[in-house]
Amino acid sequence: MQITEKVFGETPEGETIFEYILENGQLKLKIINYGAILVELHTPDRNGKLEDIILGFDSLDGYINDDTYQGATIGRFANRIKDGCFKIDDKEYKLAQNDGENHLHGGIKAFNKVIWKAEKIEKEDSIGLELSYFSKDGEENYPGNLKSTVIYLIQDNTLNIYFKAFTDKTTPVNMSHHSYFNLNSAKNGNILDHKIKINANQYLPVNKNLIPTGAIKSVQDTAMDFTELTRIRKQIKNMSGGYDHNWVLNKNNCELRLAAEVVATKSGRKMELSTTKPGLQFYSGNFLDGTMTGKYNIQYNKHQGLCLEPQFFPDSPNHPEFPFSFLRPNEIYEHSIRYRFSTI
Ligand code: GAL
Repeated sequence: MQITEKVFGETPEGETIFEYILENGQLKLKIINYGAILVELHTPDRNGKLEDIILGFDSLDGYINDDTYQGATIGRFANRIKDGCFKIDDKEYKLAQNDGENHLHGGIKAFNKVIWKAEKIEKEDSIGLELSYFSKDGEENYPGNLKSTVIYLIQDNTLNIYFKAFTDKTTPVNMSHHSYFNLNSAKNGNILDHKIKINANQYLPVNKNLIPTGAIKSVQDTAMDFTELTRIRKQIKNMSGGYDHNWVLNKNNCELRLAAEVVATKSGRKMELSTTKPGLQFYSGNFLDGTMTGKYNIQYNKHQGLCLEPQFFPDSPNHPEFPFSFLRPNEIYEHSIRYRFSTI
């Protein structure tokens, strides 16, 4: 097990950004302290060959100019808030409308565009990186000074990501991870033949701007039914543009439980994702349009990668019926995600 630190690049403001390579013989990761971004994630295929299974960029410029949230830590509030508005105790807050009329993934200079402080973690059975960021009261118009932490930790064939935050004023917090996975590696085509299982009997219907209508519907007899391992290609044509929805995970008791499984028969790679949060956004890379070139000089076309983002439901601050509460002073926001990599 080892952690190697190197210079990754320099921001236009002259700040040096570092990369941290974590290796334990089974997994190899590269994380940068810009955006607390996961730049590379190598896992073995069925023949033991390590390949990078996430999309991203070779250079810091790629991440600075990126508007697709490659490998990013997303926050303060992941996903959409309708019209960028919400109320806390009758006081109205107005956030940036950076996705049409809506607020998306924390705003303009959100957690994926700031510099985090990194500290290495070296334990007997695991290694990792702790990244912390102090988001000031009023940043992106969110209330409260927020001390936020992201910990990446690898142990054997699992990658754990822990999020933690503390505030001094009541504020909405919803932190998640936004890697685009392609278990065959992006150079070997798109994700339409990946099979996916989502442990959810219900999903959230959305309006044309991808804001939940407030209804919670059964997945049964719909293209949203992934209760059995199903090829993504099977029903995607019934979904205009592709999948970009939030599933209501079963067993919602804040404990870490299996939320989804993804299998790529070509490479034999399997990924199991567990979370402590109630929702899972499955986004099938619909807005990748071939105009972006990523790592290894690969052009990113529609469905080149898929995101599985565990979180509170989108627009939760405006839906008292959703399982969500604002983070208040003296409380801790916590979220754990576990990815387990194996082969079939
Ligand atoms: C996803 C979201 C998509 C899109 C994407 C970034 O999390 O569900 O609608 O905004 O991020 O391009």
